Amino acid sequence: MSLTSPRRPPQGPSLAARLGQSRVALRIEDEMRVTAADLVDSVAEARLKVATVRYKVQDEVRSTTQKLRSRVSEARAKLVDEARFIRSWIDNPSRTGSVTPSSPALSRRMASFVDPALPGPVIEIGPGTGPVTEALIARGISEDRLILVEYSPEFCELLRRRFPRATVVEGDAYALSTTLSGHLNEKAIAVVSSLPLFNQPPAMRSALARDAFTLLTEGAPFIQFTYSVISPVPRKGSGLKSFVSDWVLRNIPPARVWVYRQTV
Ligand SMILES: C[S@@+](CC[C@H](N)C(=O)[O-])C[C@H]1O[C@@H](n2cnc3c(N)ncnc32)[C@H](O)[C@@H]1O
Repeated sequence: MSLTSPRRPPQGPSLAARLGQSRVALRIEDEMRVTAADLVDSVAEARLKVATVRYKVQDEVRSTTQKLRSRVSEARAKLVDEARFIRSWIDNPSRTGSVTPSSPALSRRMASFVDPALPGPVIEIGPGTGPVTEALIARGISEDRLILVEYSPEFCELLRRRFPRATVVEGDAYALSTTLSGHLNEKAIAVVSSLPLFNQPPAMRSALARDAFTLLTEGAPFIQFTYSVISPVPRKGSGLKSFVSDWVLRNIPPARVWVYRQTV
């Protein structure tokens, strides 16, 4: 029989301690798992942010490029129009009446005297390359309501391309009702004229206005711009009432717009 004390179990952490350690390990493992998941979320969020920023930058670049391109093509079209105008003026200065097309400011002022809410066609005489036509459309008059009377065949061709739904009539505006016979189904709500009236004698200008009013609804305006300080349509004995705008300075040269209506 041995006198030695009973054999002690091998030394090591107690069960309680071991249990405690594994709980800590489990907690650490849990926390690491949560941290790893957070990390994955953060990376995904960062990726999303990068993608959003990249998309925004690409979008910005695309729209700036488009804007620049359209500005360049607008400037090019304007230059081409100016060149056409100068050529037409060299060919026939008294008929063209101006070296450059009307500015957007003058065109807008002309169009401002037309009420787009009224039903019926609008007659434009001497539209040239179409700056006033564009202003009329921007004012809310649909292209198919426009009847454009232009003498120059080159300008007519250009107008047909530029405003395909408008009626372009190549002919003489000084014989307006004859020129428009067959083209006008109802009375118009305005005549908008850019004709160089002062190149014609007063009697011819008066006759043009008289003729124009036969094509207009009651109270409708005959609108005309001029660089001159006096009325382009002789007023004395015309039975017309008139209004003149202030000077439109953003045009070369500055111009005013006269609006004539018949007195009833
Ligand atoms: C001063 S430009 C105006 C052009 C354009 N509306 C503008 O504001 O830039 C005059 C225009 O009237 C046209 N024109 C001149 N006499 C004409 C006539 N008897 N009948 C029709 N158009 C005429 C010219 O060809 C020219 O296009």
